[in-house]
Amino acid sequence: MSTLSVVTPQQVRVVEVIRETSDAHTLVLEPEGEVGDTFSYKPGQFLTLRIPSDRPGGAARCYSLCSSPQQDEKLKVTVKRTRDGYGSNWICDNVVEGNVLDVLRPAGTFTPTSLDKDFLLFAGGSGVTPVMSILKSALAAGNGLVTLVYANQDESSIIFRDELIALSKQHPGRLTVIHWLGTVQGLPDQPSIGALAAPYTDREVFICGPGPFMDCVAQALETLGLPPERVHIERFTSLGTDPFAPVAAVVHDVEGESTEVEVQLDRQTRSLSWPGGNRLLDVLINAGIDAPYSCREGACSACTCRVLEGEIRMERNEVLDAADLDEGYILACQAVAVSEKVRITYDE
Ligand SMILES: Cc1cc2nc3c(=O)[nH]c(=O)nc-3n(C[C@H](O)[C@H](O)[C@H](O)COP(=O)(O)OP(=O)(O)OC[C@H]3O[C@@H](n4cnc5c(N)ncnc54)[C@H](O)[C@@H]3O)c2cc1C
Ligand code: FES
Repeated sequence: MSTLSVVTPQQVRVVEVIRETSDAHTLVLEPEGEVGDTFSYKPGQFLTLRIPSDRPGGAARCYSLCSSPQQDEKLKVTVKRTRDGYGSNWICDNVVEGNVLDVLRPAGTFTPTSLDKDFLLFAGGSGVTPVMSILKSALAAGNGLVTLVYANQDESSIIFRDELIALSKQHPGRLTVIHWLGTVQGLPDQPSIGALAAPYTDREVFICGPGPFMDCVAQALETLGLPPERVHIERFTSLGTDPFAPVAAVVHDVEGESTEVEVQLDRQTRSLSWPGGNRLLDVLINAGIDAPYSCREGACSACTCRVLEGEIRMERNEVLDAADLDEGYILACQAVAVSEKVRITYDE
Protein backbone atom coordinates (compact mmCIF):
# COMPACT_ATOMS: atom_id res chain seq x y z
CA MET A 1 0.00 0.00 0.00
CA SER A 2 1.36 3.45 -0.86
CA THR A 3 -0.29 6.82 -0.28
CA LEU A 4 0.88 10.27 -1.27
CA SER A 5 0.07 13.35 0.69
CA VAL A 6 1.00 17.01 0.22
CA VAL A 7 1.01 19.36 3.18
CA THR A 8 -0.96 22.59 2.86
CA PRO A 9 0.53 25.51 4.84
CA GLN A 10 -1.57 28.07 6.69
CA GLN A 11 -1.49 31.74 5.73
CA VAL A 12 -1.17 34.89 7.81
CA ARG A 13 -1.54 38.52 6.80
CA VAL A 14 0.98 41.09 8.05
CA VAL A 15 -1.17 43.85 9.56
CA GLU A 16 1.70 45.94 10.93
CA VAL A 17 5.50 46.03 10.94
CA ILE A 18 7.07 47.56 14.07
CA ARG A 19 10.72 48.63 14.02
CA GLU A 20 11.86 47.61 17.51
CA THR A 21 15.56 48.49 17.09
CA SER A 22 17.78 49.27 14.10
CA ASP A 23 18.03 45.57 13.24
CA ALA A 24 14.87 43.94 14.68
CA HIS A 25 11.39 44.09 13.16
CA THR A 26 8.17 42.83 14.73
CA LEU A 27 5.55 41.42 12.36
CA VAL A 28 1.99 41.66 13.67
CA LEU A 29 0.01 38.85 12.05
CA GLU A 30 -3.59 37.81 11.53
CA PRO A 31 -4.61 34.37 10.25
CA GLU A 32 -6.29 34.36 6.81
CA GLY A 33 -9.69 32.70 6.50
CA GLU A 34 -11.50 30.37 8.87
CA VAL A 35 -8.78 28.66 10.91
CA GLY A 36 -10.57 27.36 14.01
CA ASP A 37 -8.03 26.35 16.69
CA THR A 38 -5.10 26.14 14.29
CA PHE A 39 -3.40 29.25 15.63
CA SER A 40 -4.10 28.76 19.33
CA TYR A 41 -0.71 28.59 21.05
CA LYS A 42 1.06 28.39 24.37
CA PRO A 43 3.50 31.06 25.63
CA GLY A 44 6.99 30.26 24.31
CA GLN A 45 5.89 28.46 21.12
CA PHE A 46 7.00 29.42 17.60
CA LEU A 47 5.78 29.73 14.01
CA THR A 48 7.64 28.42 10.96
CA LEU A 49 7.70 30.96 8.08
CA ARG A 50 8.26 30.16 4.43
CA ILE A 51 10.98 32.41 2.96
CA PRO A 52 10.90 32.71 -0.85
CA SER A 53 14.03 31.36 -2.47
CA ASP A 54 15.00 30.25 -5.96
CA ARG A 55 17.25 27.58 -4.49
CA PRO A 56 16.02 24.02 -4.78
CA GLY A 57 14.55 23.15 -1.39
CA GLY A 58 13.58 26.78 -0.70
CA ALA A 59 13.98 28.19 2.76
CA ALA A 60 12.01 28.17 6.00
CA ARG A 61 12.82 29.72 9.37
CA CYS A 62 11.30 29.43 12.84
CA TYR A 63 10.32 32.56 14.80
CA SER A 64 9.06 32.53 18.38
CA LEU A 65 5.77 34.21 19.13
CA CYS A 66 6.58 37.16 21.39
CA SER A 67 2.88 37.91 21.86
CA SER A 68 1.00 36.41 24.79
CA PRO A 69 -1.99 34.15 24.11
CA GLN A 70 -3.40 35.42 27.42
CA GLN A 71 -3.35 39.13 26.60
CA ASP A 72 -2.53 39.87 22.95
CA GLU A 73 -5.26 39.68 20.34
CA LYS A 74 -2.87 39.33 17.42
CA LEU A 75 0.11 37.07 16.78
CA LYS A 76 3.53 38.74 16.82
CA VAL A 77 7.00 37.55 15.86
CA THR A 78 10.18 39.61 16.11
CA VAL A 79 12.97 38.97 13.63
CA LYS A 80 16.49 40.23 14.29
CA ARG A 81 18.91 40.45 11.39
CA THR A 82 21.66 37.82 11.46
CA ARG A 83 24.84 39.07 9.80
CA ASP A 84 24.88 37.62 6.25
CA GLY A 85 21.81 35.54 7.14
CA TYR A 86 19.42 34.84 4.28
CA GLY A 87 16.01 34.53 5.94
CA SER A 88 16.18 37.22 8.63
CA ASN A 89 17.49 39.85 6.21
CA TRP A 90 14.91 38.89 3.60
CA ILE A 91 12.15 39.46 6.16
CA CYS A 92 13.54 42.76 7.47
CA ASP A 93 14.18 44.06 3.93
CA ASN A 94 10.99 42.91 2.21
CA VAL A 95 8.04 42.21 4.48
CA VAL A 96 5.54 45.09 4.64
CA GLU A 97 1.99 45.59 5.88
CA GLY A 98 -0.51 43.72 3.70
CA ASN A 99 1.83 40.85 2.72
CA VAL A 100 0.51 37.32 3.13
CA LEU A 101 3.00 34.73 4.41
CA ASP A 102 2.89 30.93 4.42
CA VAL A 103 3.40 29.49 7.90
CA LEU A 104 3.15 26.24 9.79
CA ARG A 105 0.93 26.24 12.86
CA PRO A 106 2.44 27.18 16.28
CA ALA A 107 4.53 24.47 17.89
CA GLY A 108 7.28 23.86 20.43
CA THR A 109 7.83 22.69 24.00
CA PHE A 110 9.56 25.76 25.50
CA THR A 111 6.47 26.55 27.50
CA PRO A 112 5.57 26.44 31.22
CA THR A 113 3.29 23.65 32.46
CA SER A 114 1.61 26.20 34.74
CA LEU A 115 1.65 30.01 34.81
CA ASP A 116 1.05 30.00 38.58
CA LYS A 117 4.74 29.58 39.38
CA ASP A 118 7.60 31.90 40.24
CA PHE A 119 9.84 32.34 37.18
CA LEU A 120 13.48 33.22 36.60
CA LEU A 121 13.94 34.14 32.93
CA PHE A 122 17.25 34.64 31.09
CA ALA A 123 17.29 36.26 27.66
CA GLY A 124 20.14 37.36 25.39
CA GLY A 125 19.41 39.62 22.38
CA SER A 126 16.64 38.23 20.14
CA GLY A 127 16.31 35.30 22.57
CA VAL A 128 13.96 37.60 24.46
CA THR A 129 11.07 36.72 22.09
CA PRO A 130 9.74 33.46 23.63
CA VAL A 131 10.75 34.70 27.08
CA MET A 132 8.63 37.84 26.57
CA SER A 133 5.60 35.70 25.76
CA ILE A 134 6.11 33.67 28.95
CA LEU A 135 6.72 36.83 31.02
CA LYS A 136 3.58 38.62 29.79
CA SER A 137 1.45 35.47 30.13
CA ALA A 138 2.66 34.79 33.67
CA LEU A 139 1.91 38.39 34.70
CA ALA A 140 -1.50 38.40 32.99
CA ALA A 141 -2.78 34.95 33.94
CA GLY A 142 -0.54 33.66 36.74
CA ASN A 143 -0.04 34.72 40.34
CA GLY A 144 3.70 34.27 40.88
CA LEU A 145 6.84 36.43 40.78
CA VAL A 146 8.84 37.00 37.59
CA THR A 147 12.50 38.01 37.34
CA LEU A 148 14.07 38.65 33.92
CA VAL A 149 17.83 38.84 33.45
CA TYR A 150 18.26 40.39 29.99
CA ALA A 151 21.66 40.65 28.27
CA ASN A 152 22.32 42.99 25.35
CA GLN A 153 25.26 44.63 23.69
CA ASP A 154 24.14 48.18 24.53
CA GLU A 155 21.04 50.18 25.42
CA SER A 156 20.02 50.79 21.80
CA SER A 157 19.85 47.06 21.09
CA ILE A 158 17.31 46.26 23.84
CA ILE A 159 14.24 44.81 22.10
CA PHE A 160 10.93 45.56 23.95
CA ARG A 161 12.67 48.13 26.19
CA ASP A 162 9.61 50.40 26.50
CA GLU A 163 7.19 47.49 26.90
CA LEU A 164 9.32 46.14 29.77
CA ILE A 165 9.39 49.54 31.47
CA ALA A 166 5.58 49.73 31.20
CA LEU A 167 5.14 46.19 32.55
CA SER A 168 7.48 46.92 35.50
CA LYS A 169 5.32 49.94 36.38
CA GLN A 170 2.14 47.89 36.02
CA HIS A 171 3.42 45.00 38.19
CA PRO A 172 5.87 46.62 40.66
CA GLY A 173 5.62 43.86 43.25
CA ARG A 174 5.82 40.97 40.78
CA LEU A 175 8.20 41.84 37.93
CA THR A 176 11.93 42.56 38.31
CA VAL A 177 14.00 43.27 35.18
CA ILE A 178 17.80 43.11 35.51
CA HIS A 179 19.62 44.44 32.44
CA TRP A 180 23.15 43.29 31.56
CA LEU A 181 24.89 45.48 28.97
CA GLY A 182 28.00 44.20 27.23
CA THR A 183 29.38 47.71 26.67
CA VAL A 184 29.11 48.41 30.43
CA GLN A 185 29.63 45.06 32.16
CA GLY A 186 31.43 42.99 29.51
CA LEU A 187 30.40 39.44 28.67
CA PRO A 188 28.49 37.73 31.50
CA ASP A 189 30.47 34.94 33.14
CA GLN A 190 29.48 32.04 35.37
CA PRO A 191 30.22 33.70 38.76
CA SER A 192 28.26 36.86 37.87
CA ILE A 193 25.29 34.88 36.52
CA GLY A 194 25.48 32.62 39.60
CA ALA A 195 25.35 35.68 41.88
CA LEU A 196 22.30 37.06 40.03
CA ALA A 197 20.49 33.70 40.12
CA ALA A 198 21.34 32.77 43.72
CA PRO A 199 18.25 34.43 45.32
CA TYR A 200 15.94 32.59 42.93
CA THR A 201 16.98 28.94 43.04
CA ASP A 202 13.44 27.77 43.90
CA ARG A 203 12.06 29.08 40.58
CA GLU A 204 11.18 27.61 37.18
CA VAL A 205 13.88 28.78 34.74
CA PHE A 206 13.61 29.57 31.02
CA ILE A 207 16.73 30.49 29.00
CA CYS A 208 17.03 31.72 25.40
CA GLY A 209 19.86 33.57 23.69
CA PRO A 210 23.19 33.04 21.94
CA GLY A 211 24.76 29.60 22.54
CA PRO A 212 27.67 30.73 24.76
CA PHE A 213 25.28 32.83 26.90
CA MET A 214 22.91 29.89 27.41
CA ASP A 215 25.78 27.51 28.19
CA CYS A 216 27.14 29.98 30.75
CA VAL A 217 23.72 30.36 32.42
CA ALA A 218 23.05 26.59 32.40
CA GLN A 219 26.43 25.88 34.00
CA ALA A 220 25.92 28.58 36.64
CA LEU A 221 22.52 27.11 37.52
CA GLU A 222 23.94 23.58 37.70
CA THR A 223 26.60 24.85 40.11
CA LEU A 224 23.82 26.35 42.23
CA GLY A 225 22.19 22.90 42.33
CA LEU A 226 19.04 23.58 40.28
CA PRO A 227 17.49 20.30 39.12
CA PRO A 228 17.60 19.94 35.30
CA GLU A 229 13.81 19.42 35.10
CA ARG A 230 13.33 23.04 36.28
CA VAL A 231 15.69 24.50 33.65
CA HIS A 232 14.31 24.94 30.10
CA ILE A 233 16.43 26.02 27.13
CA GLU A 234 15.41 27.14 23.62
CA ARG A 235 18.12 27.03 20.95
CA PHE A 236 17.68 29.23 17.87
CA THR A 237 18.96 27.39 14.79
CA SER A 238 18.05 27.59 11.10
CA LEU A 239 16.22 24.69 9.48
CA GLY A 240 18.38 22.63 7.17
CA THR A 241 15.44 21.25 5.22
CA ASP A 242 12.29 22.83 3.77
CA PRO A 243 9.17 21.70 5.62
CA PHE A 244 6.96 23.46 3.02
CA ALA A 245 8.30 21.51 0.07
CA PRO A 246 5.56 19.40 -1.57
CA VAL A 247 7.28 16.26 -0.48
CA ALA A 248 4.82 13.45 -0.23
CA ALA A 249 4.69 11.41 2.92
CA VAL A 250 4.80 7.78 1.84
CA VAL A 251 3.14 5.14 3.95
CA HIS A 252 3.59 1.47 3.22
CA ASP A 253 4.21 -1.68 5.18
CA VAL A 254 7.97 -1.74 5.30
CA GLU A 255 8.36 -3.66 8.54
CA GLY A 256 6.00 -6.26 10.01
CA GLU A 257 2.49 -5.72 11.32
CA SER A 258 0.44 -2.56 11.67
CA THR A 259 -0.15 -0.95 15.04
CA GLU A 260 -3.48 0.46 16.12
CA VAL A 261 -2.92 4.07 17.21
CA GLU A 262 -5.34 6.34 19.02
CA VAL A 263 -4.45 10.06 18.75
CA GLN A 264 -5.83 12.99 20.76
CA LEU A 265 -5.26 16.35 19.08
CA ASP A 266 -7.17 19.61 19.49
CA ARG A 267 -9.55 17.78 21.86
CA GLN A 268 -10.54 15.25 19.16
CA THR A 269 -9.69 11.56 19.26
CA ARG A 270 -8.97 9.53 16.11
CA SER A 271 -8.07 5.84 15.72
CA LEU A 272 -6.04 4.67 12.76
CA SER A 273 -3.68 2.04 11.51
CA TRP A 274 0.08 2.74 11.84
CA PRO A 275 1.90 0.53 9.33
CA GLY A 276 5.16 -1.00 10.60
CA GLY A 277 8.37 0.96 9.98
CA ASN A 278 6.60 4.26 9.20
CA ARG A 279 6.95 7.43 11.22
CA LEU A 280 3.96 8.62 13.19
CA LEU A 281 3.93 12.15 11.70
CA ASP A 282 3.80 10.76 8.13
CA VAL A 283 0.92 8.46 9.09
CA LEU A 284 -1.02 11.36 10.64
CA ILE A 285 -0.46 13.69 7.68
CA ASN A 286 -1.56 10.95 5.28
CA ALA A 287 -4.73 10.54 7.30
CA GLY A 288 -5.45 14.27 6.91
CA ILE A 289 -4.70 15.06 10.57
CA ASP A 290 -3.28 18.57 11.07
CA ALA A 291 -0.48 17.51 13.42
CA PRO A 292 2.15 20.15 14.30
CA TYR A 293 5.70 19.89 12.94
CA SER A 294 8.52 22.02 11.62
CA CYS A 295 11.92 20.43 10.82
CA ARG A 296 10.85 16.77 10.39
CA GLU A 297 14.37 15.78 11.39
CA GLY A 298 14.18 15.39 15.17
CA ALA A 299 15.81 18.74 15.82
CA CYS A 300 13.13 21.28 16.75
CA SER A 301 10.55 19.64 19.09
CA ALA A 302 7.57 21.08 17.15
CA CYS A 303 6.05 17.61 16.75
CA THR A 304 6.32 16.64 20.44
CA CYS A 305 3.45 14.54 21.78
CA ARG A 306 3.07 12.12 24.69
CA VAL A 307 2.65 8.35 24.77
CA LEU A 308 -0.17 7.40 27.16
CA GLU A 309 -0.04 3.68 26.39
CA GLY A 310 2.19 1.37 24.36
CA GLU A 311 5.75 1.52 23.10
CA ILE A 312 7.55 3.34 20.27
CA ARG A 313 11.16 3.86 19.29
CA MET A 314 12.70 7.05 17.91
CA GLU A 315 15.07 7.08 14.94
CA ARG A 316 16.67 10.36 16.02
CA ASN A 317 16.26 12.80 18.93
CA GLU A 318 18.29 15.97 19.33
CA VAL A 319 15.92 17.87 21.59
CA LEU A 320 14.15 15.80 24.23
CA ASP A 321 16.15 15.14 27.38
CA ALA A 322 16.00 12.24 29.83
CA ALA A 323 13.34 13.96 31.98
CA ASP A 324 11.11 14.51 28.89
CA LEU A 325 11.50 10.87 27.83
CA ASP A 326 10.67 9.67 31.37
CA GLU A 327 7.41 11.63 31.17
CA GLY A 328 6.54 9.85 27.90
CA TYR A 329 7.27 12.70 25.48
CA ILE A 330 8.25 11.66 21.97
CA LEU A 331 8.92 13.26 18.57
CA ALA A 332 6.20 12.19 16.14
CA CYS A 333 8.45 12.86 13.14
CA GLN A 334 10.89 10.22 14.41
CA ALA A 335 8.56 7.72 16.11
CA VAL A 336 8.15 4.18 14.80
CA ALA A 337 5.67 1.85 16.53
CA VAL A 338 6.91 -1.09 18.59
CA SER A 339 3.80 -2.39 20.40
CA GLU A 340 0.52 -3.53 18.79
CA LYS A 341 -1.47 -0.71 20.36
CA VAL A 342 -0.36 2.87 21.11
CA ARG A 343 -2.25 5.83 22.58
CA ILE A 344 -0.84 9.33 21.93
CA THR A 345 -1.89 12.80 23.06
CA TYR A 346 -0.92 16.25 21.84
CA ASP A 347 -3.26 17.91 24.33
CA GLU A 348 -1.42 17.30 27.65
C1 LIG B 1 12.43 27.56 17.77
C2 LIG B 1 13.16 28.74 17.15
C3 LIG B 1 12.71 30.01 17.41
C4 LIG B 1 13.38 31.11 16.87
N1 LIG B 1 12.92 32.36 17.15
C5 LIG B 1 13.55 33.44 16.65
C6 LIG B 1 13.10 34.75 16.94
O1 LIG B 1 12.09 34.93 17.64
N2 LIG B 1 13.75 35.79 16.41
C7 LIG B 1 14.86 35.63 15.60
O2 LIG B 1 15.41 36.64 15.12
N3 LIG B 1 15.33 34.39 15.32
C8 LIG B 1 14.69 33.30 15.80
N4 LIG B 1 15.14 32.04 15.49
C9 LIG B 1 16.29 31.90 14.57
C10 LIG B 1 15.78 31.91 13.10
O3 LIG B 1 15.00 30.77 12.82
C11 LIG B 1 16.95 31.92 12.12
O4 LIG B 1 17.82 30.88 12.44
C12 LIG B 1 17.66 33.26 12.13
O5 LIG B 1 16.78 34.31 11.75
C13 LIG B 1 18.86 33.25 11.16
O6 LIG B 1 18.40 32.88 9.90
P1 LIG B 1 19.06 33.50 8.58
O7 LIG B 1 18.47 32.77 7.44
O8 LIG B 1 18.98 34.98 8.58
O9 LIG B 1 20.57 33.18 8.80
P2 LIG B 1 21.35 31.86 8.40
O10 LIG B 1 20.67 30.66 8.85
O11 LIG B 1 22.74 32.07 8.85
O12 LIG B 1 21.24 31.97 6.86
C14 LIG B 1 22.23 31.56 6.08
C15 LIG B 1 21.73 30.29 5.43
O13 LIG B 1 20.85 30.65 4.37
C16 LIG B 1 21.25 29.93 3.25
N5 LIG B 1 20.93 30.72 2.06
C17 LIG B 1 21.62 31.75 1.54
N6 LIG B 1 21.01 32.20 0.41
C18 LIG B 1 19.90 31.43 0.25
C19 LIG B 1 18.86 31.38 -0.74
N7 LIG B 1 18.84 32.22 -1.81
N8 LIG B 1 17.86 30.46 -0.58
C20 LIG B 1 17.88 29.61 0.46
N9 LIG B 1 18.84 29.59 1.42
C21 LIG B 1 19.84 30.49 1.31
C22 LIG B 1 22.75 29.73 3.41
O14 LIG B 1 23.17 28.59 2.71
C23 LIG B 1 22.87 29.51 4.89
O15 LIG B 1 22.65 28.16 5.23
C24 LIG B 1 14.50 30.92 16.02
C25 LIG B 1 14.94 29.61 15.74
C26 LIG B 1 14.27 28.54 16.30
C27 LIG B 1 14.73 27.15 15.99
S1 FES C 1 9.28 18.27 13.44
FE1 FES C 1 11.10 19.03 14.36
S2 FES C 1 11.56 17.48 15.83
FE2 FES C 1 9.87 16.67 14.74
